[in-house]
Amino acid sequence: MSLAHKVAVVTGSGRGLGLAYATALAAAGAAVVINDVDGDAAEAAARSIIDAGGRAVAQVAEVGRAEAAQGLVDRAVDSFGRLDIMVTNAGVLRDAMLWKMSDDDFDTVIDVHLRGTFTCVRAAAVRLRAQGEGGRIICVGSPTGQVGNVGQTNYAAAKAGIAAMARTWAMELAKARITVNAVIPVAATAMTRTVPVFAPHVEALEREGTPLPEALRKGEGFGTAEDVAGLVVYLASDASAQVTGQCIGIGGDKLALWSHPQEVSVAYADGGWSADAIAAAWPVSVGREPQTYGIPAPRL
Ligand SMILES: NC(=O)c1ccc[n+]([C@@H]2O[C@H](COP(=O)([O-])OP(=O)(O)OC[C@H]3O[C@@H](n4cnc5c(N)ncnc54)[C@H](O)[C@@H]3O)[C@@H](O)[C@H]2O)c1
Repeated sequence: MSLAHKVAVVTGSGRGLGLAYATALAAAGAAVVINDVDGDAAEAAARSIIDAGGRAVAQVAEVGRAEAAQGLVDRAVDSFGRLDIMVTNAGVLRDAMLWKMSDDDFDTVIDVHLRGTFTCVRAAAVRLRAQGEGGRIICVGSPTGQVGNVGQTNYAAAKAGIAAMARTWAMELAKARITVNAVIPVAATAMTRTVPVFAPHVEALEREGTPLPEALRKGEGFGTAEDVAGLVVYLASDASAQVTGQCIGIGGDKLALWSHPQEVSVAYADGGWSADAIAAAWPVSVGREPQTYGIPAPRL
């Protein structure tokens, strides 16, 4: 799959999933603006792509504010003449139970993920619409944003918001032939290697190259960062021109399409619903089969 002549920005691509995305996009022929808040990681990532024969520049910036987003788009245009692909991957975690989560924990995660995605995609949309040749927006959600997870109030809110923005932008940008999708990844990175059930397997993979077990790769859809990169290259390519407004899960050996929230059960009462009428109807109508929520515990 060739991305020759395409130019991509990947936020948070100094390490982890972002580095895997940037490396794969460059290997497919795209020129890539590497972004990270960690300058050493960003420079090393750009160097590794250039050493492998690819095209890359590093732009150190803290994604969140509008100026950082504009700086990334400007860097793509100044260095490579255009922009085709924006991947909003930068992320941080500040996990805590609701009653222990500080305002700072909440604001930091919302700033980087939700505001960072909004500002970067807005800056990219302005440029892509002006170019008039279509484009690709690839946002990054999470299973936590899709179904909720203990200890992740801030992250769940940000990632659910990103999925909602992606659906909205898919409508707003369709006329300009700009597709907008959200990748829902699961992979062994700094963010996930400390999850207790995954940790020994990730350590064995990194220390001895022991492949992750089938129960992880297929059962949990959990693999390496490189396992996720193929989806980003596909979504960046001409082959995915008709794919927009989707949340697409990938990890290990698993590729999945997530459903969108929709009404699954409805009931009607002439003249509207009183509290008493709802209480009477709930167990026998719309409340009969409540929706599940939360990421299930891994079965290993
Ligand atoms: N690893 C997973 O299983 C998983 C699952 C679901 C979603 N995600 C999402 O994938 C993305 C990447 O996660 P990862 O696992 O590779 O994490 P990671 O911690 O390995 O990498 C994140 C990178 O983003 C950079 N970063 C953080 N804040 C930044 C900012 N304000 N501006 C620029 N760069 C910044 C970090 O320095 C780091 O290099 C995140 O959005 C994360 O929420 C990951």
